[in-house]
Amino acid sequence: MPDPKRVAVLISGRGSNMRALVEQARGYEVILVASNRPAAPGVEWARARGLQTWTMDSRGVSRDEFDRTVSSVLKDHRIGTIALAGYMRILTPAFVEEWSGRIVNIHPSLLPKYRGLDTHARAIAARDTTSGCTVHQVTQELDSGEILGSAEVTIEPGDTPEALEQRVRAAEHQLYPRVLAQFVASRRSLLP
Ligand code: GAR
Repeated sequence: MPDPKRVAVLISGRGSNMRALVEQARGYEVILVASNRPAAPGVEWARARGLQTWTMDSRGVSRDEFDRTVSSVLKDHRIGTIALAGYMRILTPAFVEEWSGRIVNIHPSLLPKYRGLDTHARAIAARDTTSGCTVHQVTQELDSGEILGSAEVTIEPGDTPEALEQRVRAAEHQLYPRVLAQFVASRRSLLP
């Protein structure tokens, strides 16, 4: 079984959380940045930083085939932990099963509230006074795996979804590296 500290970060877009995971890596190492969008700005950043990257456009490829390909690439790199960071794809049950207990995700709400999309607009519409972000394990059910850590952000009067999103994202950058480091350490402590 590969060492849990060998991390792959999967992204689809900007990659600011991936960047935080790389820049604040302690107790783990980002071995690979992978994306289903070859033109994702985050991929560009990772390449410029000298990290190994892998991309394949997921459009027009079946979900099963795409996830099987990703899985074999991750195995080639002897990845022990997968960190999803703005990876806007639902993983196939076969992929989640194969990597069970080794996938984490960051979600822009205080789970179990607001699974899925448009979390900031939904929190504001509900007149919540706090929102935030959550790092959780990935299981078959969307945004429902064990919660590993969360951070609260105050919703200010008159907040727009965009303004709230920016502050939540800043909180994500603090939270994710810390929680990933804890997760990796706890899994390493179970190694024989
Ligand atoms: C982050 O806010 C993350 O929580 C969210 O996408 C953004 C990615 O930003 N993820 C989800 O909504 C997953 N359902 P980034 O590309 O700058 O890290």
